[in-house]
Amino acid sequence: MHFILIGILFVAHGAFADENAPAAVPDTMAERVKACTICHGDEDKLGRDAYYPRIGGKPAGYLFNQLRNFRDGRRHYQPMAILLENMTDDYLLQIAEHFSSLQQPYPPPEQINIQSDEVKLAEQLVYNGDAQRDIPACSACHGDALMGVEPFIPGLLGLPRAYITAQMGGWRNGGLMRGQVPDCMSEIAKSLTDEETNAIAKWLAMQQVSGKPSPSSTLSPELAQRCNSIVMNNGAIK
Ligand code: HEC
Ligand code: HEC
Repeated sequence: MHFILIGILFVAHGAFADENAPAAVPDTMAERVKACTICHGDEDKLGRDAYYPRIGGKPAGYLFNQLRNFRDGRRHYQPMAILLENMTDDYLLQIAEHFSSLQQPYPPPEQINIQSDEVKLAEQLVYNGDAQRDIPACSACHGDALMGVEPFIPGLLGLPRAYITAQMGGWRNGGLMRGQVPDCMSEIAKSLTDEETNAIAKWLAMQQVSGKPSPSSTLSPELAQRCNSIVMNNGAIK
C-alpha cells in the first residue's frame, strides 16, 4: 500500500539513518523528511485522500504539537500516524524546527464571492469577537496581524478556504479533534454558527498576507489558559 511503502522508505532514510542509510545519501534533515514533502510541498494541494497543507514557516511549537497529536491519536490522519509512530518527542521537535525554518511563498489571496454583510460579520468576529457568547476576537490569540503568535499559535492568513473550513469542521463535528481540554479552538468553533464559520473562512482566505507573527508576550495569560496546547507545555516548547 502506498503509505506503508512511504513508511518503510522513511524508516530507511529517517529515524535510523545513521546506521542504515546508503553512503551516497547525505544524512541531512532535508533528506530525512523526503517522505513528508511528498505530500507537504511548497503549496497546499488536494491529494488523493485529503487536503495536504503546506507546513513550511509555521511556528515550531505549533508544528511540534501537531506531530505529537497525530502520533498520539488526538488528530487523525492514518498515513501520518504510521510514519510518526516510533518517533521520539526530541526527533519530532527537530522535524518541527526544520519545517518552521523554511521560508515558503504564500499563495495569492483567493478570489471569492462575498456579500458585504458577510464581510461585516467576519471582521466583527475576527477583530472583536462576541463577548456575550464568550467568543474572544480571533486576533486576540492569533495576533493583530493574524500571522500567529510564536511558538504555539499558527497564522490565519495564507491558508486556503478549504483548509480553514476543514479544520473548523473537525473541531465542530469531530469533538475529538486535537482533543484534550481546555481545547480553545474546539470551544470557539462550536460556538460559531455555520453562517459565521463560512463568512470567516471566506474572508480570511481573501486577505493579502502581510505582517509577521507576534511574540508570545502579546498573548494574555487568561486567553493562553483556554488552550491545552499552551497549558500542556507550560509556555515552553518542550
Ligand atoms: C500521504 C500524505 C502525507 C504524508 C506522507 C505526510 N503528511 Fe502531514 N499532513 C497530511 C494531511 C492530509 C494533513 C492534514 C490532516 C488534517 O487536516 O487533519 C497533514 C497535516 C500535517 C501537519 C499539520 C499542519 C497544520 O497546519 O496544522 C503537520 C505539522 C504535518 N502534516 C507534518 C508532516 C510530517 C513532518 C511528515 C513526515 C514525517 C508528514 N506530515 C507526512 C498529509 C501527509
Ligand atoms: C484563546 C486563543 C484563541 C482564539 C481566541 C482563537 N484561536 Fe484559533 N487557534 C488557537 C490555538 C492555540 C491554535 C492551535 C491549536 C492546536 O495546536 O491544536 C489555533 C488554531 C487555529 C486554526 C488552525 C490553523 C492551521 O494552520 O491549521 C484555525 C483555522 C483557527 N485557529 C481559527 C480561528 C478563528 C477563525 C478564530 C476566531 C473566531 C480563532 N481561531 C480564535 C488559539 C485561539
